[in-house]
Amino acid sequence: MRTFEKIADLRRYLAEMRAGGKRIGFVPTMGFLHKGHMALMRAVKEDPEVDLSVVSIFVNPLQFGPQEDYRSYPRDLGRDEELCISAGMDVLFIPAVEEMYPEGFATSVEVTGVTEVLCGRSRPGHFKGVATVVTKLFNIVQPDCAYFGIKDAQQFVVIKRMVRDLNLPVKIKAHPTVREEDGLAVSSRNVYLTKDERRAATVLYRSLECTAAEIRKGERDALRLKRMLTEKISAEPLARLDYAEVLSWPDLRPVDVLRRGEVLAAVAAYFGRARLIDNVLVEVE
Ligand code: PAF
Repeated sequence: MRTFEKIADLRRYLAEMRAGGKRIGFVPTMGFLHKGHMALMRAVKEDPEVDLSVVSIFVNPLQFGPQEDYRSYPRDLGRDEELCISAGMDVLFIPAVEEMYPEGFATSVEVTGVTEVLCGRSRPGHFKGVATVVTKLFNIVQPDCAYFGIKDAQQFVVIKRMVRDLNLPVKIKAHPTVREEDGLAVSSRNVYLTKDERRAATVLYRSLECTAAEIRKGERDALRLKRMLTEKISAEPLARLDYAEVLSWPDLRPVDVLRRGEVLAAVAAYFGRARLIDNVLVEVE
């Protein structure tokens, strides 16, 4: 694996690879790699449309609010590098903050229409930070395709919309949420959980699964489903609910009555200092 810290060096190397006919597959991450990231790296390695696999590790300050955990966000570059090597990645990009945002940096990318709900409402500016860094990473790496986990369903929608609206020549590929045996979605922030909080956090997936089961049984009243999801999570004493929503997919609009197609049931809740999100996509027959 070749590791680059400087944008110019990476671009030079990738330009040579591209000139040699290599198609680039990209996995952008914020590091502290876990099973979810490993699954994305495996997917890119197994992708018949990819000849060269690139992973980036960059904890992006722009996507954290002033009261959020940018400073304490878990980092372990040594371990991450080993994991990227073990996943067989060809290139690792680990820019410093000053490399990505030099003095005087003043441009941002903002996607509207799908960012006013869910995490966009709870974390103002978050998706502007995500869209800005992902645009920069796409411009630097110029991948043919890029992989994102569906655990961050809204992020996936935002990036798809941005790529479409700005005509970015990259194919966005989704990967299903990776879960622990008890259903908890894997996340770098799970390390914040105490033993009791870790146990309590399983309420998220259990509640989402109940909601999905109700939909499959025929419940079509979105408000009733949302109320049920809210009550189930709120019944867990260690959970502090941020949101519980049932929205249309992929345009993330509120719905009164569920219609044929897919819906997204999505939740966010705090367990101690960890803010966790999860979701399920349900087919409405
Ligand atoms: O999903 C993440 O880890 C981040 O939001 C991303 C896409 C790497 C941008 O910083």
